Amino acid sequence: MRILGIESSCDETAAAVVEDAERVLASVVASQMDTHGKYGGVVPELASREHLRAIVLVVREAMERAGCGWGDLDAIAVTEGPGLVGSLLVGVTYAKALCFARGIPLVAANHLEGHIHAVVMETKAEGVPVEYPAVALVASGGHTHLFEVREGFQYRLLGKTRDDAAGEAYDKVAKLLGFGYPGGPVIDKLAPYGDPEAVKFTAAKMKGNALDFSFSGVKTAVLRWVESREMAAEIEARRELQRSVGRPTLEQWLAATPLETRNLLASFQAMVVRELLRRLRVAMEETEGRTAIVSGGVACNAGLRKAARELRLGYPILFPTPGLSTDNAAMIAAAAFEKARRGEFAGWDLRAKAALLPGT
Ligand code: KG4
Ligand code: ZN
Repeated sequence: MRILGIESSCDETAAAVVEDAERVLASVVASQMDTHGKYGGVVPELASREHLRAIVLVVREAMERAGCGWGDLDAIAVTEGPGLVGSLLVGVTYAKALCFARGIPLVAANHLEGHIHAVVMETKAEGVPVEYPAVALVASGGHTHLFEVREGFQYRLLGKTRDDAAGEAYDKVAKLLGFGYPGGPVIDKLAPYGDPEAVKFTAAKMKGNALDFSFSGVKTAVLRWVESREMAAEIEARRELQRSVGRPTLEQWLAATPLETRNLLASFQAMVVRELLRRLRVAMEETEGRTAIVSGGVACNAGLRKAARELRLGYPILFPTPGLSTDNAAMIAAAAFEKARRGEFAGWDLRAKAALLPGT
C-alpha cells in the first residue's frame, strides 16, 4: 500500500510517499526558515503565502523522486491539525483537490500522531516494533505533550505545557541573545562549550498535574540574567554576524559568544533536558510503559539524546532520525496507514482543525 502524505501545519511545506507504513520512497521538505528568520519566529500570514507558493512543486517532486504515478497511490493523507489554520488550509484544500481530480481516497492525519508515527515507522522498518503501552513525548516549537499510547493507537493525554513549548523556549532565548531563528539547533551546538552547572535555575513549582510542563520561568530567568549584565554590544555583534553571513558556522558563533554566555546556554539546555526527561520517566512509571518515544523538533537535541542514552532504565527511549524529528510528511503518511486499513476516509467536508488528538 502506498500513501502520499502532505504536511503544511506550520512553517514547512512537505510531501512524502511511504510504502506499507515503513519504507519512505521519497520525502521532500521546503523550509521557510529564511522567510521567518528575520522576524525571530513564524509569521502566520507569510507562512500561508509560502505554502501556497511551494505546495504544487513539493508534491510533484516527491512523486517524481518516488517514481510514482497517481494510479500507484492507495490514498493521500493530509495534516488536518493542530497547527496554524491558514497554513493547514493550504494542505487540506490541495489534498482534497488532488483526491477529487484523481479519484484517490483522502485520509485526515493528526500532526502530533504523525510525530509519534515517525518513530513507529522507523522501528518497524528496523524489525524491532514498538512495544505497548508506550509513552510518547512530543516536544516541538508548538507542543510539549505527553501521551500514553496503547495498542491500536489509542491515546491518553498525560500532561502538557501550561505556557511555552520546549522548542518555543529555545527560540525565545535564542532571539533574546541574538542567535536568530530557529534557536534549538544553535543553542544545542554551543551548549557543550559551556558549564551546565554554572547558572542555577530553579524548576517551576506547579500545583495540580505533576506531568504538566512549564518553560516560561526558565525563559524569564534568562531574561533577568541578561538584564543584569552589560550584554547589548555582544548581542548586537551576533545579530550583525547573522546579517552579514546568513548562517554562521559553529566557529563563528563560538568566536562571538564569551564563556559566560556559553555557560548560560549550557545551563539552560541542561534545565530543559532535565525537565523533559523527569516527566517522561514519571509517566513511564505511572503507566507501566514498555517503550518511551521522544519526537518533534526538540528530539533532534544532542544533549537530550545523550542524557536519555545515559539513563539506562530498563526500557528503550526511542528517537526518530533527525530528518524525521522535525516536521515532515513521511510521518503524516505513516500515521494514515492504520486509518486507511480501517477504511476511515475523510469526506469533502474535511476542514482544518485545532483538536489535539483523537480520544484525548
Ligand atoms: O517539529 P518542528 O519542526 O515544528 C513544530 O511542530 O513546531 O519543531 C521545530 C522546533 C523549533 O522550536 C526548534 O527550535 C526546535 O524544534 N529544535 C530544537 C533542535 N532542533 C530543532 N530544539 C532543541 N534542540 C535542537 N537540536
Ligand atoms: Zn511538528
